[in-house]
Amino acid sequence: MAQLKVGLLGCGGMGLSLATPCHELPNSTIAAVCDTDEARAREAGDKFAADVYTDYGRLVAEAGVDAVIVASPPFMHRPMVECAVASGKHVLCEKPMAPTVADCNAMIAAADRAGTQLMVAQVLRYIPAFHWLRDQIGSGAYGDVLAISIERIGGRWGGDYGVPWRLRRAESGGNLMEINAHELDFMRCLAGDAARVYAVGGNYICDEQDYEDLVFASITFKSGAVGWLHSSSLCHAGMGAYTGRVQCSKGTFFIENGFSSDAYIRYGVEGGDEVKAQKIGDIEVEPAVQHEVRLFVEAVLSDTPVAVPGSDGRAAVELAEAAYRSIAERRPIDLPL
Ligand SMILES: NC(=O)c1ccc[n+]([C@@H]2O[C@H](COP(=O)([O-])OP(=O)(O)OC[C@H]3O[C@@H](n4cnc5c(N)ncnc54)[C@H](O)[C@@H]3O)[C@@H](O)[C@H]2O)c1
Repeated sequence: MAQLKVGLLGCGGMGLSLATPCHELPNSTIAAVCDTDEARAREAGDKFAADVYTDYGRLVAEAGVDAVIVASPPFMHRPMVECAVASGKHVLCEKPMAPTVADCNAMIAAADRAGTQLMVAQVLRYIPAFHWLRDQIGSGAYGDVLAISIERIGGRWGGDYGVPWRLRRAESGGNLMEINAHELDFMRCLAGDAARVYAVGGNYICDEQDYEDLVFASITFKSGAVGWLHSSSLCHAGMGAYTGRVQCSKGTFFIENGFSSDAYIRYGVEGGDEVKAQKIGDIEVEPAVQHEVRLFVEAVLSDTPVAVPGSDGRAAVELAEAAYRSIAERRPIDLPL
């Protein structure tokens, strides 16, 4: 298999973002696309000169692809993944892997039974600020990770993101999965597996959605490190923020704004007074979505393990589900669920 033939399931914003580099890589091509919205499917089919379907089961059965990208709303990830792997297709599945741990378990079991690759698109790992931090802290030069705090706060869903499925937790996983699967995964990348989650929160103003619009979640990792996530859609007048701090035994990092190329990561080391600054826009890395797609394609073609296995996707969903359960039951929740 010199070139991977890939089918795209879900031709919305993220589907097109994933399919574009997949089609441009030398060793993969988008051969078929599917969306229940026929106009969207046709537009994507034209863009990639690909076969067009409105029924994903037919694409999987008839299009002759080796792999699929699943970029539908989260509640559709499980049926699509189960269908694809049952036909021997490898899968790159968008985050959150699914809205429940039970769905994730079923997806992992289905891929294991079929002997196909299943990678979850936890793209934040490859976004410059977070990529840089993973490299720095992963080098060991700053000692052990002791504490991570991330504040990702903004306004309510709107624009292209204000689609009905995002407003229902059973379909999207709510903010803690639909948005914060990224930060929860990132914390695990730095601190390892978690042992316990304790969260507080509620729905204060966003009554168009059926889940919490504000959550403070604290996480205790097996290593003894602690994490804290502030997730909110309560910010008015554009006063959102995306900041983070990582405290290590020999170093301290502060991310001013994880998505802004004009912002800096400030950091200092044990025993020193100097605060260094890494401009995020100066971090040279491969474009994040292309990076994850390339890793997936290479893993499938070389039959080597994928970079983000289903177990990692499941772990982010598990942290979020534990936080929801902690809020509902007003107690800490021990992992694994
Ligand atoms: N990594 C990121 O930063 C990021 C950003 C946005 C979205 N996402 C993820 O990507 C996924 C899709 O999000 P989006 O923003 O592209 O949503 P979207 O609503 O723009 O697109 C989803 C598409 O799936 C189609 N669809 C729904 N049911 C289908 C079915 N049964 N068969 C075929 N097509 C179907 C819809 O018609 C729609 O075109 C979600 O899991 C979301 O969390 C990730």
